[in-house]
Amino acid sequence: MTEHDITLTVNGAEHDLTVEARTLLVHALRDELGYTGTNVGCESSLCGACTVRMDGEAVKSCTALAVQADGAEIRTVEDLGTRHDFHPIQEGFQEEHGLQCGYCTPGMMMTALDILEENPDPTREEIREGLEGNLCRCTGYQNIVNAVQNAAKEMQPAAVADGGE
Ligand code: FES
Ligand code: FES
Repeated sequence: MTEHDITLTVNGAEHDLTVEARTLLVHALRDELGYTGTNVGCESSLCGACTVRMDGEAVKSCTALAVQADGAEIRTVEDLGTRHDFHPIQEGFQEEHGLQCGYCTPGMMMTALDILEENPDPTREEIREGLEGNLCRCTGYQNIVNAVQNAAKEMQPAAVADGGE
């Protein structure tokens, strides 16, 4: 089996590791580096549970090989906040009851971050479109959209939050 030496920067920490050519990024993150906040669902690009950010873009980490991420900056859900200091997206999910079993939640949150960095003031429709690649079997999505809207309000610059005044 061919192995490759790669370097991944995950949540600001640089890691050198050796992976097989076939190793998926999600498995390198979880199994080699211990970033188990990223979940594995379908392993076929359908559910979004494995969503992370790679070089500033949301990526389903089951669709990328670890070797393709060599040299990349990866951000996982572990980097969003801590249990004592939630990120506004985590606060939004808590306040709006945006999760039930929680399996989809790490991917939802990383996609939400992507949506809000692209568009700090999205409409509900834009949030729904942005979350299209992330599936949730529990919530019916309504509270997830509420959670992202809640986070948007918290994250917006004051001028946007005040309606441009
Ligand atoms: Fe990657 Fe489902 S596990 S999209
Ligand atoms: Fe259970 Fe989304 S909260 S799959």
